Amino acid sequence: MLIVGPETIFAQKSADAAIEKKIDRLLGKMTLKEKIGQMYQVSGPTRDAAAMQLIREGRVGSVLNVNNREDINRLQRLAVTETRLGIPLIVGRDVIHGYHTIFPIPLGQAATFDPELVKEGARVAAQEASSDGINWTFAPMLDIARDARWGRIAESFGEDPFLASVMGAAMVKGFQTERLSDKGTLAACAKHFIGYGAAEGGRDYNSTNIPERLMRNVYFPSFQAAVQAGAATVMTSFNDNDGVPSTANPFILKKVLRDEWHFDGFVVSDWTSPEEMINHGFAADRKEAALRSVNAGLDMEMVSKCYLNNLEELVKEGKVSISTIDNAVRNILRVKFRLGLFDHPYTDTPSTNPFYTDDNLAKAKKAAVESVVLLKNTNHLLPLTSAVKTVAVIGPLADAQHDQMGTWVFDGENGHTQTPLMAIRKMYGDRVNVLYEQGLAFCRDTNKSRFPQALEAAQKADVVFLFVGEESIMSGEAHSFSNLGFKGAQSELLQELKKSGKPIVMVVMAGRPMTIMKEVAAADATLYVWHPGTMGGPAIADLLFGKEVPSGKLPATFPKESGQIPFFYNHNNTGRPAPENVMTLDRIPLNAGQTSLGNTSYYLDSGNRPWLPFGFGLSYTDFAYGNLQLSSGSMKKTGYVTVSCDLTNNGTLDATEVVQLYVRDIAGSITRPVKELKGFQRIALRSGETKKISFELKAEDLAFYGIDNVKKVEPGDFLIFIGGDSDTKLCQKLIVTE
Ligand code: NOJ
Repeated sequence: MLIVGPETIFAQKSADAAIEKKIDRLLGKMTLKEKIGQMYQVSGPTRDAAAMQLIREGRVGSVLNVNNREDINRLQRLAVTETRLGIPLIVGRDVIHGYHTIFPIPLGQAATFDPELVKEGARVAAQEASSDGINWTFAPMLDIARDARWGRIAESFGEDPFLASVMGAAMVKGFQTERLSDKGTLAACAKHFIGYGAAEGGRDYNSTNIPERLMRNVYFPSFQAAVQAGAATVMTSFNDNDGVPSTANPFILKKVLRDEWHFDGFVVSDWTSPEEMINHGFAADRKEAALRSVNAGLDMEMVSKCYLNNLEELVKEGKVSISTIDNAVRNILRVKFRLGLFDHPYTDTPSTNPFYTDDNLAKAKKAAVESVVLLKNTNHLLPLTSAVKTVAVIGPLADAQHDQMGTWVFDGENGHTQTPLMAIRKMYGDRVNVLYEQGLAFCRDTNKSRFPQALEAAQKADVVFLFVGEESIMSGEAHSFSNLGFKGAQSELLQELKKSGKPIVMVVMAGRPMTIMKEVAAADATLYVWHPGTMGGPAIADLLFGKEVPSGKLPATFPKESGQIPFFYNHNNTGRPAPENVMTLDRIPLNAGQTSLGNTSYYLDSGNRPWLPFGFGLSYTDFAYGNLQLSSGSMKKTGYVTVSCDLTNNGTLDATEVVQLYVRDIAGSITRPVKELKGFQRIALRSGETKKISFELKAEDLAFYGIDNVKKVEPGDFLIFIGGDSDTKLCQKLIVTE
């Protein structure tokens, strides 16, 4: 939490007041056309003479998809020197998990449970991107993603509102720092407001049906945290929720965002989302789309021209008030002033190359190391011992410079990406003999003609490293899947290598939880490395060879099969929760009567449990939890308790554990989740060491929107859990009183 003194608050207030005065003066001089121009964002105008002309006429407020300093300065010069009022452009780009130096995908970053590292990653991205003249990024994506079929789960912080809130706020701080006008910052954009990750069936852009209470308890918090962290902008989502597209939803854009959260930045649509309301059947034409969006509180339109071509007429017809237009323009200008664009519209050539610096690469490597989740490690196969003399590196993702960067990478270059094969050879080539066979050319490949060579390499080696998973293009926008298993002949490749009898370490690069339970059962050890970015190779090599120890934890539940989806740890209980030992298909007697099936909530084929729970992740060492204590067995609904436990590292290696604090509200005015994450800490422990870990749990942390839709703490009994994943059973009772 940032602590600001009274001088800072005073300085901020007078700066804000000065900005408001400047906006007043500017608004007083602007024509309606110029105002509407500020509300239009155009893509890649350098290739489009008509768009360039619009900029000259002062009819464009923002551009996106321009990424080099010369072009951006050229466009700014048009806006600043050739328009009547010289209002600079705000220049946006999707800088999602790095600009040139690529960090792990956001889902991988969430697996670190390390907000400081997420903030550092955003700093690096902001410094690199701003050196090219970009001053606004369309990140962080704060959609709660509980459905791995949805390809954009890769861009999310996973399924948990608390984790997404902490990580999202950290990312905002990293992009913006404490002062947006400082050099090396980017204005952040909290997207996609709202509910986009809950697309029915996991099909991108699909409708959502999230009732208000669920919205407030699960989908809003990460956005509210970003707004509180100072996010300068918010992007609306493509979906309609309960029949209302977000782009024209006054409840979310006015009541919640402005009235309740006091957001004073601007709201941008997603790419052509106003125009897409015609397809939704929410607007008959572009004019109606403009009318409904602007009156709902959408300030800027991305790419489509509903505003540009219709707002003037709508104002003249009295359907849109001039104060609505002024308000939108005021919000946009406020962000431009805060960015310091009026004082410094141009970007200087940096004296040294800001991309891929040693420091940036080291940070990207650290992020990749911490993002890796160890799913299995039979007989402590990892880390490799010195007895291993030859390793076989096999698989389509062992040396895939493009794919390991992951989705939403426009500016990372293949040539700078360090793959596992490159890193193992370079960093450990003097320790082991490295044999390489790709086996399959790419993940979807079904051509098995190179299997014999792969098997031969495995036979010659002491250990096999098999790199499999998803190509980068298989997750991200519009890349939904109904089947989450390995594509192509990757499972067959694993089976083929098993014939060698050699221990197999499977390394999975993917943009989502995959349903690969059988494959993991067949491998001896598995590292889940997401799409780890530029420095994925060195990070993975250090983990395999024991220079680093895995510490990542799953930010999303891993289902056994996609038919279990949606499956998330913080679900409500049914009236008939399933016991541990549920009836399974094979135990149902023939001609069974109706009552013999257990009558509880589970699947007859896949049971009542996922494959791996949220928060799960092994280490090369063993951690033991004990001695859970509360400083008091009860607290007032305005009070707090200290929750503590002892954590011991029982293994032979120093390592880091993510200690997780969960609560369960036994009974509420509405049904309550069976567990909710309320805190986490990364704790480094030397071999044999025990540490007492403490969390301060405030009563307000237990507040939620109950039956009356008001956020408050409801007195009653709670269970407080601590452990290494969401399945932990270590708990104590806490009573909350009036
Ligand atoms: C569409 C995506 O949904 C959004 O996340 C992105 O920022 C914009 N396109 C701009 O590229």
